[in-house]
Amino acid sequence: MRLTILDIQRMKRRGERIPMVTAYDYTSAQIVDRAGIPLILVGDTLAMVMLGHPTTLPVSLDEMLHHIRAVVRGSQQALVVGDLPFLTYTTVEQAVHSAGRVLQETGAQAVKLEGGTSVAPTVQRLVELGIPVMGHIGFTPQSVNQMGVRVQGKRAGRARQLIEDALALQQAGVFSLVLELVPAELAHAITARLRIPTIGIGAGSGCDGQVQVWHDMLGLYTDFVPRHARRYATLADTIATALQQYATDVREGTFPTLEHSSSMDAQELQAALASLDEQ
Ligand code: KIV
Repeated sequence: MRLTILDIQRMKRRGERIPMVTAYDYTSAQIVDRAGIPLILVGDTLAMVMLGHPTTLPVSLDEMLHHIRAVVRGSQQALVVGDLPFLTYTTVEQAVHSAGRVLQETGAQAVKLEGGTSVAPTVQRLVELGIPVMGHIGFTPQSVNQMGVRVQGKRAGRARQLIEDALALQQAGVFSLVLELVPAELAHAITARLRIPTIGIGAGSGCDGQVQVWHDMLGLYTDFVPRHARRYATLADTIATALQQYATDVREGTFPTLEHSSSMDAQELQAALASLDEQ
């Protein structure tokens, strides 16, 4: 049985910390489910880590839908949240159309969108229509051209604004809220003021849950680890070693062996070759 937003909210009430991870395809989603992680985000980070763009901005709704579908097919237990990409929720009507497509065309259970008080009316309408919404404040990557990549809320004015954003989003009906690149003390203060769970990334340990990007935490880059990520594996190295070994085996003729091949009756081959010779 798939988890619901009620299960996720119950985790906060019980004081259970909530792990969340991004996934972008069928196979990864199967692995997330096997690991018992309750929340999958098909994030618009896929623009960067899967499609090679410099920011999240270029990914389209159709591209998102393609990946969200695969993740839903690969998972049976985790609640799947699909990100609404840049400029797909600029009006309430457009947001209803975009979020509706995510739920109807992929089977995901919720959408995530970025922004504070200004998106509260949009959130409220989506929730009224039965579309669960996860909020996202602090550093919001779709506004990278305005804010740069930097911690948000170190000064009192912006910190207060983020608290107001969090309360407005809760009031509008988000079931959970991502806090990205926010000082740990502020994230803790926001978490304490909300009934809904906060999910941090670069926001300290005082959030109700944490989200990590698949490629960051599994070491799928060869060069770069963001400060907020912990590497739990170095899969890029593991994969490169496996590929080098494969290439060596092919070059040396040690792969494939009989166990990787099928065989035929010698007489059948003989008959085939003889019939060619007769022509
Ligand atoms: O798109 C994404 O992966 C995200 C997380 C970083 C929270 O929004």
